[in-house]
Amino acid sequence: MNILKERILQEAVVLGEDVLKVSSFLNHQIDPDFMAELGKEIAQRFEGEKITKILTVEASGIPIALATGMAMHVPVIFAKKHSTSNVSGSAYRTIVYSFTHNTEYTVLVESDYLDAGDRVLIVDDFLANGRSIYGLLELLEEAGAQPVGIAVAIEKGFQSGGRELRAEGYRVESLVIIDRMDEDEIVFRDGNYDEDEDDE
Ligand code: G4P
Repeated sequence: MNILKERILQEAVVLGEDVLKVSSFLNHQIDPDFMAELGKEIAQRFEGEKITKILTVEASGIPIALATGMAMHVPVIFAKKHSTSNVSGSAYRTIVYSFTHNTEYTVLVESDYLDAGDRVLIVDDFLANGRSIYGLLELLEEAGAQPVGIAVAIEKGFQSGGRELRAEGYRVESLVIIDRMDEDEIVFRDGNYDEDEDDE
C-alpha cells in the first residue's frame, strides 16, 4: 500500500535492530484521516467474507481496528490486557508472551461479546513474532468463533509471525511488509506473500 510505505519512509525511525517507531501517525499520535484510508483498504481486501466482528488488542491496535470497523460497519472488540472493574461476568482469557517486550500478560474478552456464530477478522497495527495474534486466535477458539483472517498495517517479514500464521493456513493480509531495515534504509517486500514462496 503506497501511502503507508511513503509515510513510513518519511516519518518512521528504526530503533535498535528490529523496532520501527511510527509514533507520529500510528502508535502515539493518530492521524484519523490516514487511519480511515487504512481501514478502507482492509475492508476492501475482505469484501464478501461476511465478517460479523473485528477483534484487536489494546492499545495500539484499536485505531486501525476502529477504522476497519467503520468501513465494514461491524462491531469492534478490543481484548483487554488488564481485568478492570468494568469486566464483569465470564470472560475468555489467555496468556501471551511478548518477545518485543519480554513480558507475559493476560488478554481477555468478556464472553458476552463473542459468539460461536461470529466470523471474526483480527486486526492489529504490527505483526512481529505474532504472539498477540496467537493469543487472539485462542480467545476465538474458546468462544467457538471463526477466524476469517488477520489484517495488519505493518508486518516485519524478518520476524516469524506472518510466515507461521500463513503456514498454518490463516489468511494474513499486511498493508506493507518490511523485509529488512536499519537506520539508513527500510526495504519493503513487493506483494503480500511469503518470501520463501519465491524459492519453490
Ligand atoms: P512479539 O511476539 O514479538 O512480541 O510481537 P507481537 O506481534 O505479538 O507484538 C507485540 C507488541 O509489540 C504489540 O504491541 C506490537 O504492536 C508491538 N510491536 C512489535 N514490533 C513493533 C515495532 O517494530 N514497532 C512498534 N512500534 N511496535 C511493535 P503491544 O505490546 O500490544 O503494545 P501496545 O499495543 O499497547 O502499544
